[in-house]
Amino acid sequence: MSAAPVVVLIGPMGVGKSTVGQLLAERLGVGYRDTDDDIVAEQGRTIAEIFVDEGEPVFRAIEKQAVQRALTGHDGVLALGGGSILDEDTRALLLGQRVVYLSMDVEEAVKRTGLNAARPLLAVNPRKQWRELMEARRHLYEGVATVVVTTDGRTPEEVTQAALDAL
Ligand code: S3P
Repeated sequence: MSAAPVVVLIGPMGVGKSTVGQLLAERLGVGYRDTDDDIVAEQGRTIAEIFVDEGEPVFRAIEKQAVQRALTGHDGVLALGGGSILDEDTRALLLGQRVVYLSMDVEEAVKRTGLNAARPLLAVNPRKQWRELMEARRHLYEGVATVVVTTDGRTPEEVTQAALDAL
């Protein structure tokens, strides 16, 4: 089967891709899918366990496959893991799609995720790690996005409405 998502959601972890994605899917009357969930189901272990057991490069390879499958096998709202846009081939696949980048600033990110052991990339010094993460990735998100929606100070419902208005 070949299908293309109605909307692809990208953005950093903790920005609310799952919550907004599900609200957006409801409003559009389509299904919702999340590549992190696909990976956990396929691998039978959590993302954190994959990072610890195998390291980030192996996780990225698994993620790349999962994203490519979802991009051609789902016709609803699709949320991608926050780091999936690090891959050049994945970014190329996103060109021509409707891609909504949910953004937030560093302080909002620290506030929302705090010290979250389930998120392997934030285990040591969240503020510093967030700053570096955003600096490294912001332009990659912006480069593939057709729409940017800021989530700072907004509820998931407000973010969803802003995304719908912009689409
Ligand atoms: C990651 C984001 C996470 C998950 C993994 C790595 C990242 O997904 O894939 O922890 O590199 O930003 P969410 O953005 O869905 O939390």
